[in-house]
This record gives sequence, structure tokens and C-alpha cells, in this order.
Amino acid sequence: MKIQKKFIRFSLRKAIRIILYQVGLISTVICFGLLVAANHVLSAEKSKIKADVSKNATWSGGKGKEAGRDDFLGTCSPCHGESGRGDGPLSDTLGEGIKPRNLTDSELLSNRTDEDLFNVIKNGGASIGLSESMPSQKETFTDEDIRNIVLFIRSDICKCQYKGKGGK
Ligand code: HEC
Repeated sequence: MKIQKKFIRFSLRKAIRIILYQVGLISTVICFGLLVAANHVLSAEKSKIKADVSKNATWSGGKGKEAGRDDFLGTCSPCHGESGRGDGPLSDTLGEGIKPRNLTDSELLSNRTDEDLFNVIKNGGASIGLSESMPSQKETFTDEDIRNIVLFIRSDICKCQYKGKGGK
């Protein structure tokens, strides 16, 4: 009788030890799995950004585009509109016959090099014979900021690249 009790207590202790061991093992496996999954998601995210860059960018990375979006919404959208169609709240106030460009016009923007866009944003409309209502951003943005804005316009607004001069 006594021996049996001792045996039960012994095997109970053993069973608990085994269970604890298993729990430890399983949670290690789960943790590892989560790590692998997180890593996978992260690298998928990274390759998405990379894909964006190779398709759209001349000079900058995914973060640059996001910075460009913020600057565009803050500074350009009052005239060009949030979606770039040229219909921002100030678009009707610029004077007779002066309208902000519709930047979603991919035909028009395919005629412009990134450098063209950069220059008109930096130096203003008057610098290329357009209306001076298109203000120079020289004092507002660094060259890098302007490149990011161009990147954003290319990838999210006109969804176009330079295709050659001609047309519009
Ligand atoms: C005060 C209003 C106003 C603001 C603010 C403004 N624009 Fe313009 N933008 C214009 C107008 C007006 C034109 C068209 C000029 C014309 O047709 O003569 C224009 C034209 C353009 C063009 C077309 C140039 C071309 O080659 O045809 C681009 C690109 C452009 N703007 C980008 C921007 C960006 C980017 C910003 C913000 C950094 C911005 N604009 C801010 C009014 C504005």
C-alpha cells in the first residue's frame, strides 16, 4: 500500500515534469514560428517597397514617396487638389483663365522628364513660361524634398513615366 502511494506520487511528479517540459518546448516552437512569420511579412513589405522604387523612382526609396505625399497634401493640394486633378479649393481664385495643371493627366506628364517637373516645382511656373501662379518652392523645400514630391506624383498621381517629348 505504502509503496503504491509512493509510486503514484513519483509518477505524478514525473508527469508534471514531462508536461512542463512539453509546454516549454511547444512555446519555444510557437515563438520561433512567430519570429519566422514576422520576418516573412517584413521582407515581403520590403520587397514591395523595392518593387515600387524600380518601377517609379529615379532617385529615391519608398519612404521618400511617403514624404512626398505629405508635402504634396500640405503645400500643393490647395491648388492642385488632393488627388492632383487641379481642383483644389484655391483653383478658382488664381485669376482669369489660370488653372492649376491637372497632374493626373498622364499624357501630359509623360512628356515631362523628372528634371522638368523638378525644375518647375523648384523655380516656379514663370521659369518655364507658365503662369507665375505656380509658385517657386525654393524657399520651402530642399532638393531632396522636391525629388520626393516628383516621385509621389509619378507613382500615385499621374501613374506615369517620361515617354519622350512630343504631343502636349
Ligand atoms: C497657388 C496655386 C498653386 C500651388 C500652391 C501649386 N501650384 Fe502647381 N501649378 C499651378 C498653376 C496655376 C499651374 C499651371 C500654370 C499654367 O498653366 O500656366 C501649375 C502647374 C504645375 C505643374 C505643371 C508644369 C508643366 O510642366 O505643365 C506642376 C508639375 C505643378 N504645378 C506641380 C506643383 C507642385 C508639386 C506643387 C506643390 C509643391 C504645386 N504645383 C503648387 C498652381 C499652383
